[in-house]
Amino acid sequence: MSEKKQLILNAFAMQAPGHLNPGVFRYPKDQGSQYNKLTHWISLAQKLEAAKFHAIFFADVLGGYDVYKGPANLHPTIPAGTQFPINDPLYSIPALAAATESISFGVTASTTYDPPYAQARRFSTVDHLSNGRVGWNIVTSYLDSAARNFGLNTQVEHDERYRIADEYLNVTYKLWEGSWRDDAVKNDQSGYADPDRVRQIDHKGKYFNVPGPHLCEPSAQRTPFLLQAGTSTAGRAFAAKHAEAIFLNGHAPELVRPSVDSIRKQAAEIGRDPGDIKIIAGVLVIVAETDEAAQAKFEEIIKYGDHEGSLALFGGWSGYDLGKYDEDQDFRFVEAPAVRSMVNHWASTVPGKEDIKWTRRTISEYLLVGGNGAKIIGSAKTVADELERWVEVADVDGFNLSYASIPETFDDIIEYLVPELRRRGLFWDDYAVKGGTMRENFYGQKGKTRLPDAHPGAQYFWKAGEEVPKYAQAE
Ligand SMILES: Cc1cc2nc3c(=O)[nH]c(=O)nc-3n(C[C@H](O)[C@H](O)[C@H](O)COP(=O)(O)O)c2cc1C
Repeated sequence: MSEKKQLILNAFAMQAPGHLNPGVFRYPKDQGSQYNKLTHWISLAQKLEAAKFHAIFFADVLGGYDVYKGPANLHPTIPAGTQFPINDPLYSIPALAAATESISFGVTASTTYDPPYAQARRFSTVDHLSNGRVGWNIVTSYLDSAARNFGLNTQVEHDERYRIADEYLNVTYKLWEGSWRDDAVKNDQSGYADPDRVRQIDHKGKYFNVPGPHLCEPSAQRTPFLLQAGTSTAGRAFAAKHAEAIFLNGHAPELVRPSVDSIRKQAAEIGRDPGDIKIIAGVLVIVAETDEAAQAKFEEIIKYGDHEGSLALFGGWSGYDLGKYDEDQDFRFVEAPAVRSMVNHWASTVPGKEDIKWTRRTISEYLLVGGNGAKIIGSAKTVADELERWVEVADVDGFNLSYASIPETFDDIIEYLVPELRRRGLFWDDYAVKGGTMRENFYGQKGKTRLPDAHPGAQYFWKAGEEVPKYAQAE
């Protein structure tokens, strides 16, 4: 039993009335509308920590979902509370860290809109204040509405966003790892820090010029634990190079396996240890005492789902406005190739939906809760069997659990599923490193607080005794 892979469990959330559950804030048990109260998030963090969840992972977007019935129309989005309004998650992290000891916090931030110098400072600050319990979900962003609000007419082209992100990461590695020598801070009668051990990074690149030095002294992790979720070729190459945990969505483990293999292979090819990359599948779990009770709960919750909000989510994710089509258009045969291929993929992979017409209604219903990830509904046994199958078939390391109703979905998981996973030897009884950093607990290894040596960011380390960091000697 003890040889089984120990699962990583994260709660997937967003600081908005609804995340992947448009309209469900109206369901009497849902507390989505409390998203702007610290007490709401502190209570969730504490109960997840008591159950030994690895992290709460906060998704974030920088614009409204305004494509559906657009252009630039937020009318379907606003009543549904669909990822709008939305607060910046980073501000709450020090408060959540103060109320907990070991759970970590993944925070989404964009490389397309926030400059690296400021971003590096924000994450260092929170890494200090949380004793190293913050992770960065690196996104390149996908909403035109964000681009317009950051002064662009439209989005930077997709693959170009990843090229920018790659240089961006190099800038932040230099700031986090190569600007303050490990022994720079003295805090004694001779001074706070040794000025010869704090250096400018003098980064001059295609997209960024950042002289430095980094404004913050080294925090526990230096570089926050790095998470990413690219699915395109460019996105996956970026993830294989930089990410320490990668999020993947998919309806079935058989379909996810090739992506998992490809990421591990790409990582190995650039000299990384594939074991240093944790692969986390996004799933919605609705669990109750029996299969029937879980199904009934699911049916009850989706009654409150907002179909217009659901189509607004689709519009933002895909860039396609389904409002332009007739109610009974079957999107398996629509002329827009990207929509056709996405819908045909769903039609062939979503269980039980092989032979139905994929109309606007089918799509909105499908996306009402849990987004485009797998939905696993049933008793603890049913759900645990399916999660085990995911681990075996897809070789994933854990799960990012979204919610249909907050905090109810997590309460049920803690009550029914977590004990079952423990019984099967699949989930730890306690944190590997109590009070440890995010990196230590994700890798399950005390002392593994800094980037692993084979990670590309490690070349920027400035170790005690070195006059300048190694990378700078080579420049
Ligand atoms: C589980 C998961 C969580 C994600 N969270 C966010 C997020 O919070 N904000 C965001 O802008 N994009 C988010 N994304 C989108 C990804 O960053 C990425 O844009 C998407 O998977 C498409 O991949 P590509 O950019 O390589 O085409 C998420 C994706 C997945 C699968």
